[in-house]
Parts: sequence; C-alpha cells; structure tokens
Amino acid sequence: MLQMRLALQFVLLIAPLWFKTATQAAPPPLSPQQFRKFLLGDRDRPWIEDFYGSDKYLNDEDKNAFKQRLIGVTLGEKLSSPGAVTGSFNEGMYMLGADYNAKDKKYEASEVVVKILYGPVDGKILGEVKALKDVGYFIASGLLPSNGKPAMLMKKIDGAQIKSTGVWKKANQSGREELLNQMKLLVKNEIVTWADEKRLLHADFTSYNIHVTFDKDDSIKTCRVLDFGFPGIFRVGTSATKSDIEEWFELQWNNRKQW
Ligand SMILES: Nc1ncnc2c1ncn2[C@@H]1O[C@H](COP(=O)(O)OP(=O)(O)OP(=O)(O)O)[C@@H](O)[C@H]1O
Ligand SMILES: [Mg+2]
Repeated sequence: MLQMRLALQFVLLIAPLWFKTATQAAPPPLSPQQFRKFLLGDRDRPWIEDFYGSDKYLNDEDKNAFKQRLIGVTLGEKLSSPGAVTGSFNEGMYMLGADYNAKDKKYEASEVVVKILYGPVDGKILGEVKALKDVGYFIASGLLPSNGKPAMLMKKIDGAQIKSTGVWKKANQSGREELLNQMKLLVKNEIVTWADEKRLLHADFTSYNIHVTFDKDDSIKTCRVLDFGFPGIFRVGTSATKSDIEEWFELQWNNRKQW
C-alpha cells in the first residue's frame, strides 16, 4: 500500500517536475561544423578556410592576448540595443565610465565599448581579438581584476541597428527596400575589402551586427559591420579572387539571417 502511495505520489508530483526540467534543459551546444553549416549553408566554398581563431592561425602574440590583467577600466552603462544584452558567447557589452589610457593613446570614454566574455579563454575569444586587430578596432584585452573574466576594449562604431531607428520604423515597404539597397552596397564594400586585403571573411551580417547613420534626407550615410566573434569570421584562402568573394557576398546577403 505504502509502495503504491509512493508510486502514485511520484506520478502526480515528481514526474511532472522531472518532465518539465528534462524538456526545458538547454539543447546541447552546436559543434563548429554545425555552426559553419548554419551560417554558410550552400554558400560554403573551398576557399573559405577555418574559423579565424583556429590554432593554426594564431601566433604567440595572439595567444597571449589575455595573459595580463586589464587594469584601468571603469565600466559604464550596459548597452541595451537588441542583441547586446547577452549573446551566446558574451556576457554583455558596456560603455566606459571613464577615459582609458591605452599603451599608445588616451581614449575618451565615449569612443570605446567593452565586451565581457564567458571564460575560459579559448580559440573563439582569441580569434575575436585577432580579427579586431586586423580591422583596426582593437584597443586592449585582458582579464578583469574584479572577477577574472576575459574582456576586450574596442573602438565604438557610430550609429545603431537599422531596425531600432525611427527612419526604418516609419518607412513603408518600398522605403525599406531602398534603405536595404543602400546598405547592401556599403556592407559589400566592407566585407569584400576585408576579405580581399586582410583575408578575413565576415559571414554573419545580421541586422544586429550592422550599425547605420543617416543623412538629413533619411538616406543611409554610413553603414558599418561589427561583431568579430565566433562563429562568424573565417580565414580566406589564397585561391580566392576578388570576384569569387563578390559573387559569394551576393548569395550570402540574399540568405542573410535575423532581419
Ligand atoms: N564596436 C562596437 N561599437 C558599438 N556598438 C557595438 C560594437 N560592438 C558591438 N556593439 C553593439 O553590441 C551588440 C552586441 O555585440 P556583438 O554583436 O559583438 O555580440 P553578440 O552578437 O551579442 O554576441 P556573440 O559574440 O555571442 O554573438 C551589437 O549588436 C551592437 O549593437
Ligand atoms: Mg552580434
């Protein structure tokens, strides 16, 4: 009888809880190959080599990017743009609360953003620092003295994600198509130049990863791609020509995700 009561109690009380926990458990993380497939799909090409932070591309300096503590950083407000709250790989993006003295230069607080990552430091994180250096956005990196978390300081990119702007919100469908056409040309120029000149392929141009500013007539003035984190950045192989990259860009743009 007691056994039956216990069994009944399990079915009525414990089992639903267990089921809830089991069904709510986080899905297993995707493997690098699955991320690649998700991002590139049928736009994958033999000249698109491995992720930028793959060990074979990292030199000693790259590998030492978090060997030191990042001192002199005063965190300011947390950025609250969509996609900025908490990413899959980062814990948050912050403004600075005070100016920062880098090795060679003093930065005003308003010129810098800080990305704080989940540790431990691995190729994903090292690859982001390497990519930021290669495109000229890197300021500093290291472990935060307060909590030991890896953090990187980068140049703040002007503008905002297009979908958060008043211009986009009030535009009708043809207005939005026109804005997207203007953006496409500017994004293409950035992506193709990085790929051709730096051998760095940014493949993750979601609307969250592009900042725009507008002219007085509401046309796009500037358009800048950001987010150099895993899994969006690949090394471009030597066989790729500029026209291979341009062709790839057209397809990738037409298949872009999260717009
Ligand atoms: N250099 C920058 N200047 C200004 N804003 C930035 C900069 N880098 C990122 N942001 C803002 O913060 C948001 C989140 O940053 P980012 O895209 O690098 O990380 P994420 O996509 O959230 O994280 P994950 O690395 O997990 O993909 C961006 O969508 C953008 O609006
Ligand atoms: Mg992003």
